[in-house]
Formats: sequence, C-alpha cells, structure tokens
Amino acid sequence: MKRAIRQALQGLMPHLPIKIAVSRNGALMRIAADEFEAFPLEDGDELRIAPGFIAKLLHGSPDGSRHVPLRGGKTLQVPAKVEMFDYKGFRIPKHLILLTGAGSETLEPIGKAHIANYRKYMGLAPEMSILEIGCGIGRDALQFIDILDGSGRYVGVDVTRDSIAWCIKNITARHPNFTFRHFDARHELYNPLGTKGTTDFVLPAADRSVDRIVLGSIFTHLFEDEIVHYLSEISRVLRPSGRTYATFFLYSEETVSAGRKTDRTPFKLRFEHRFGDGCYVNDAENPTGAVAYTDEAMHRMIEKSGLALDQPFLKGWWSGAFDDAVDGQEVAILSLRNSATI
Ligand SMILES: C[S@@+](CC[C@H](N)C(=O)[O-])C[C@H]1O[C@@H](n2cnc3c(N)ncnc32)[C@H](O)[C@@H]1O
Repeated sequence: MKRAIRQALQGLMPHLPIKIAVSRNGALMRIAADEFEAFPLEDGDELRIAPGFIAKLLHGSPDGSRHVPLRGGKTLQVPAKVEMFDYKGFRIPKHLILLTGAGSETLEPIGKAHIANYRKYMGLAPEMSILEIGCGIGRDALQFIDILDGSGRYVGVDVTRDSIAWCIKNITARHPNFTFRHFDARHELYNPLGTKGTTDFVLPAADRSVDRIVLGSIFTHLFEDEIVHYLSEISRVLRPSGRTYATFFLYSEETVSAGRKTDRTPFKLRFEHRFGDGCYVNDAENPTGAVAYTDEAMHRMIEKSGLALDQPFLKGWWSGAFDDAVDGQEVAILSLRNSATI
C-alpha cells in the first residue's frame, strides 16, 4: 500500500510545495526544496521535511537521509542533522561520508590503505590518468590529491548526486585536474529516483586513455549485466599498460561459512539468497545492498569484457576466512587481455 502511494506520488512530488525546515540555535527557517541546494548549511543544523506525511513517503538512503525529487529530474538528499567533518581543509558532510559504508573516523586510514594497495598491486605515478567508478564523497580522491602532480588527472563518477555536487564544489574548485561526473543511474539504495540504468553509462574517457581505474565496493552493489557493462567500458578506456583494481565479495564455501561465524562487518553478511547464476544477495528485499559472486561468475564476467586477471584474486578481510587478506573485500587486478601477465 505504502509502496503504491509512494509510486503514485513520485511524479507529483516535484510540483508539491515541499519545504525543508532548518532548526539552528532555537531559530527555525523554512526553505523551499528547490532553493535548498544554495542554502548555506551549518554544522549542527537539524533538518525536517514538511509536510511530515510526505517525508514518510520519501525514499531513504543507508545513512538515514531522505530523497526529495525536484523539478528537472534532480533529487535532493536531506539528512536529519547536518554534521561536518573537517579534513585537509575541507568541511565534509558526515551523512555523505557514511555512504562509503564507514564513518568519518576511518576516512583517512581507509583512504590511505586503498592507495597503499594501488601502489603495491598496480603502481602509481604523479602524471597518471586515474578514473574512479563509484567515487562517493572522494575518500580516495582526497588521497590522490597528494600523489598526482599538475600533469596527472583524476575523474570520479558516481550515481549519488549530492556526493558528486560536494566533490565538484570543493575538490575541483581547489584542484581543477580533479573532475567529477554524476550519472543518474537508478540504484535502489544510492539513487532510488534515478532515471537511467547503469548499462546506459558511457565512461567519460576516450578509448585507451586511462592508466589506472579503481572501483572500491561497487561490484558489491551491482548485478551481472551492470558489471559486464562496466568491465567492457573499462576495456575500452584502459591503456595497454593500464591496470584496474576492483573489489567484490567472493561467494565460496570457505568465505560464507567463515563470514557467518565471524560476523566481522556491521552488515551481517550471510549471502543466503541465490539471485542468479553464481550471484548471492544478503537481503532479498534490498538485493543490491550487498551482492556476492562465485569465482566462476567473476571469471565469466571478466571473460566477457576483453579484460583478464593480472594475478589471482587478492583475499578480503570481511569473512575472516583468510590470514593473508589485503583489503576489506576480495580484489580483481585487471589488464587488457593481451597485456595481462597470467
Ligand atoms: C560502498 S560505497 C563506496 C564508495 C567509494 N568507492 C569509497 O570507497 O569511498 C558504494 C558507492 O557506489 C556508488 N554506486 C552505486 N551504484 C553505482 C553505479 N551503478 N555506478 C557508479 N557508482 C555506483 C554509490 O553511490 C556509492 O558511492
């Protein structure tokens, strides 16, 4: 019932007089939804969507914020409270950091650990051209700033419009060789009101132009056709000497039985629901919340794309199955098929 009402109201929403009520130090300001983006929010502001019955019908994100549709196909992500995290001179909204799957206290250590792995398993150099698919709030971009010089270039893409808007307003403004692109692909958690599909997305890079491509916890939220699409796009834009670092959840007897016992993540990863050939999801109601693939399924997708594994999959920490884990999830290091070393 709620779902039906919600769907019927979606088309209507941009035309309703939705307001965002901002409480600050005892004062209350009411901002029209389509003027909200320009409103200078402050740390500690409490936000409420009015009228309240509409707020209840809006889609929510994993961080608890609500998606308000605006005219022109845009959406606004409204958290209950604005809290800022100061890092490297940037003021980063904490609710957008939470969409990385972790909090602000780990923004730097996780970002640095990613970079250490990229260096170790792919190599990095200051003049490289880097593409990140699913860059979120720029957890890695904030570290790449210290690595790339003026001749290097970073492009981040994501389906979460508010994160990309923040990155453009803040990171690109200071580092013009760092650019960000929003892609309005629908994702049930991250962009529930998206108007396109992942397979419609052409990566913003010329053929054979990118040195390094990273995808941190993106295949963990996508299905096979979407992954194959991204892998094929990667195979188009990667240079012959290029490398890709893509993380995923490996579904195997070993990982799943260990994971169910160790319960190492806050996400209660069980992967009990089969959702396709070699594809298992954690929550059948919200399947793209966490998706795992068997070894065979991963090889099949890579095989379809023109890419090849550069080395055997690196082990992930999430399940607790491996003592030699190098990242939170399993990792595929990929090259163009003719350039791969295995
Ligand atoms: C777990 S977060 C990881 C973010 C980032 N890689 C990091 O490590 O901080 C997953 C990200 O994937 C993005 N995402 C989901 N579906 C996507 C898609 N089809 N294409 C690109 N990004 C997507 C989400 O918006 C979110 O930013």
